[in-house]
Amino acid sequence: MTRGGLSNVTGLRCVHCGEATDLANPVYTCGSCGGNLQVEYDWESIRRGWSRESLSKNPDPTIWRYAPLYPVESTIEAPLIGGTPLFPVPRLAESLGLRSLLIKDDSCNPSASFKDRATAIALCRARDTGRDLVVGASTGNAGSSTAVLGAAMGIQTRIFVPRAAPAAKVAQLLAFGADVLAVDGTYDDAFDLCLAATDQFGWYNRNTGFNPFTREGKKSVSFEICEQLGWSVPDLVVVPVGDGNIISGVWKGFEDLHRIGFIDRLPRLLAVQAEGSAAIVNALDGDGVIHAVSGETVADSISVCLPRDGEAAVQAVKASGGLGVKVPDDEILAAILDVARGAGVFGEPAGVASFAGLKRAVAQGRIDPDGTTVMLLTGSGLKDIASVMRVAGEPRLIPPDPERLGEIFRT
Ligand SMILES: Cc1ncc(COP(=O)(O)O)c(C=O)c1O
Ligand SMILES: [Zn+2]
Repeated sequence: MTRGGLSNVTGLRCVHCGEATDLANPVYTCGSCGGNLQVEYDWESIRRGWSRESLSKNPDPTIWRYAPLYPVESTIEAPLIGGTPLFPVPRLAESLGLRSLLIKDDSCNPSASFKDRATAIALCRARDTGRDLVVGASTGNAGSSTAVLGAAMGIQTRIFVPRAAPAAKVAQLLAFGADVLAVDGTYDDAFDLCLAATDQFGWYNRNTGFNPFTREGKKSVSFEICEQLGWSVPDLVVVPVGDGNIISGVWKGFEDLHRIGFIDRLPRLLAVQAEGSAAIVNALDGDGVIHAVSGETVADSISVCLPRDGEAAVQAVKASGGLGVKVPDDEILAAILDVARGAGVFGEPAGVASFAGLKRAVAQGRIDPDGTTVMLLTGSGLKDIASVMRVAGEPRLIPPDPERLGEIFRT
């Protein structure tokens, strides 16, 4: 099999039936069964040409420091993607009775969400294959990320969002020049419409859990976590889950590092979903198969009826010996305040759902309190102000009168 021009990649393999496909084959999903595809690498040659020591001499702090594990030739020099902070949050840890809890703050990415990791690799693949228009369906973040990085690269973008997408995300799309289609329906409707348009017009499609290159970018977070921890591996990684592409990417990142000998063990994964949007957790707790749900939740980024990378997500959690947990919306909203006030980090509802899920799993006695836990914070609180205002309270309205200050502050 040829490698589609890349010496580090051996090809694509279906996560469902295992059939192999050449990287040069311009398909998104398996030709035999329609399953999602996964990129495979020439592990031996990567091992020979790259080491933790050579990596430590690379001054690049971004996702591109791990270039041997990406299936692309292009890179994006600016804005800087990845290299996000990982830091201990002792007060939050204490509030849950955990010995060690760290936040990986991916709201620090250029478009203020984790999605830039995925978009970077997908857009570079578009560039490598000579495409200058990229389309995608998005709950908001994948789209805004595509608009931001597309603008940086001079690639035209066209994004399908559900009509109810939060205003800040739509504002980002418009500001960065995407052609924005607000679909009068759910995220799943936008997704299917975008696929139909791709079929009809032959555009390059970045849809999460469809384009195999998004997972390849998402895995970079695991590379960073291990390197930031001095190549030790956390015991548990907590991931907010919608389509299941972040969590399957997180797992692939750890697996890739394990295969090339950079780490010697793998973590457990905790998949967190909103109660009304829990198809993957239902599958984990039930027959292992994805069944559609209503998708209703305040956490718009993880509001999904039929997760598009559900099978790979279930495989990842099971392979890790991990678990899934569902959280009601009021606990997700409360987590915005818990994380803001307990750690000084502002997350959107989906972004802090990880904390709500961790809290529940701890209360259920399913987490080892002595282990090291990393929770992903996947999107900024500024992305969805309306949700936080439901729980944050109101400012006190006061007169502009110094004489009355005593009255105001007496109590
Ligand atoms: C902030 C945020 N968190 C979590 C997710 C869930 O990722 P996935 O759909 O790959 O499971 C998303 C996806 O849009 C997101 O934007
Ligand atoms: Zn297949």
